[in-house]
Amino acid sequence: MENLWQQIDALRSEIGSFATTRADEVEAFRIKYLGTKGVVKQLMTAMKEVPVEKKKEAGQLLNDFKSFVTAHYEQLLTGIISDKDASTIDLSLPGQPFPIGSRHPVTLMKNRIISIFQRLGFAVAEGPEIEDDWHNFGALNLPAHHPARDMQDTFYIQQNPDWVLRTHTSSVQIREMEKGQLPIRMLMPGRVFRNETVSARSHCFFHQIEGLYIDENVSFADLKQTLYFFVKEMYGPNAQVRFRPSYFPFTEPSAEMDVSCFICAGKGCTVCKRSGWVEILGCGMVHPNVLSNCGIDPEKYSGFAFGMGVERPAMLKYGVNDLRLFSENDIRFLRQFAAAT
Ligand code: DAH
Repeated sequence: MENLWQQIDALRSEIGSFATTRADEVEAFRIKYLGTKGVVKQLMTAMKEVPVEKKKEAGQLLNDFKSFVTAHYEQLLTGIISDKDASTIDLSLPGQPFPIGSRHPVTLMKNRIISIFQRLGFAVAEGPEIEDDWHNFGALNLPAHHPARDMQDTFYIQQNPDWVLRTHTSSVQIREMEKGQLPIRMLMPGRVFRNETVSARSHCFFHQIEGLYIDENVSFADLKQTLYFFVKEMYGPNAQVRFRPSYFPFTEPSAEMDVSCFICAGKGCTVCKRSGWVEILGCGMVHPNVLSNCGIDPEKYSGFAFGMGVERPAMLKYGVNDLRLFSENDIRFLRQFAAAT
């Protein structure tokens, strides 16, 4: 028994200090210690000679030893560096670069616009692209047969004429107001659809960002100040703004806002059609009918809304001259925005 202890002790230190990264030496280790005629097997056979009263203790000792050898063998396995690896890996070579994608120019512009309004405390909300007639038209003060429905050529869903592809993000205003949590200070970006012939200047889908602010005592002055801030942040401190009276069924009064042409600084060019001004959004005070349609008391609350396209400012900023490029997924086009912000 004493003998067995000593033997195993000696083996443990011999094994513990054995190290190699060569596959053939690891295999030789396995055969020597764990093979069918290996050291562990031989010790097991020697167990027969151990007196009965010591068998239990010796068995335990051997089992521990076997686990120790197996663990050491497994560790050696993980450290093997094959001859092939050693000769083909050149650790001095530079790494292979990861292909990094780039953001879509419409996304870049959308994020830019959102980040400006976020600094004024606007949160972001989204709504569905397939809308019912009520959210896209009815609640926005456009009842059936209202002539202003013709302002936007609508795609109807064949299976259910009550459903449309939303023609504007104003539908999301309604969804936010219906939630009944006031005040609301929201930005609602998204894709919209209109039945228009696809060309360099118009498309059957594009993106808008809607803004909505509802609280007590919100005035037209608040609307103007918010949009002034936006324009200065977006187009620089020298940008001029003008409001033209307009008509939208969901706002009263309504206006369209122009910015002094940032291409020619107001001198007159093809972008501003020699007028010196570029139209960038529609806006107004939310119509009392729209508030009551959403369960908000127009006597107590008022608010403003605005809606702007994303593609046009993106075209002007990045010098894109054909709207179709945005949706063709031509990798040569998209790659050019890898470093853009
Ligand atoms: N929904 C309008 C459009 O698609 C844009 C718009 C105008 C949105 C005035 C508004 C607004 O919220 O107040 O042309």
